[in-house]
Amino acid sequence: MIIFMVGYMGSGKTSLGKELARRLGYRFADMDKLVEDKCGKTISEIFAEKGEAYFRDCERRMLESFKDIREDVVVATGGGVPCFGNNMDVMKEAGVTVYLKMSPPKLVVRLEHGRDKRPIIRGMDDAQLLKFIEEKLPERDAYYSRSAIVIDCDGRSDDYIVSHIAEIISGLKTK
Ligand code: S3P
Repeated sequence: MIIFMVGYMGSGKTSLGKELARRLGYRFADMDKLVEDKCGKTISEIFAEKGEAYFRDCERRMLESFKDIREDVVVATGGGVPCFGNNMDVMKEAGVTVYLKMSPPKLVVRLEHGRDKRPIIRGMDDAQLLKFIEEKLPERDAYYSRSAIVIDCDGRSDDYIVSHIAEIISGLKTK
């Protein structure tokens, strides 16, 4: 089974995805990292040298490569993946989509140290980032919310979130 972790930057797709994979005994894969390895450049370099459209195309091609995977894997997607082309349909068809839903103020806190490596929000202070997320999240939420599983993460511990997802996934497997 492929589990696609979906959500805004900072929502915990990578950290919670890794822990979920560990608990389920699945492999873990990070799409951002796979794209970086494939291009031999960081995401910031790809954005700067080739532009966002090129990056989105790399993401789309990376996603296509998951279609034929037959192993158990948890995939942390980049925050923009579900919002371009038919990527959400591809993920829904290939596996189980899990949306880590989080409010803008919580995302700002979680993005305290991760801004520089994300070209879209680099250099923003807290107030600018909050305003940016408040403006952009509703548009993206419409895509993310098509996920098979939606987890409200505000006020919940990482342990609770991972256990809750693991429980739902185990239920799906015994059906
Ligand atoms: C992006 C999210 C990033 C990365 C890129 C663009 C986005 O991934 O793919 O910087 O458009 O939301 P994370 O969600 O893992 O930070």
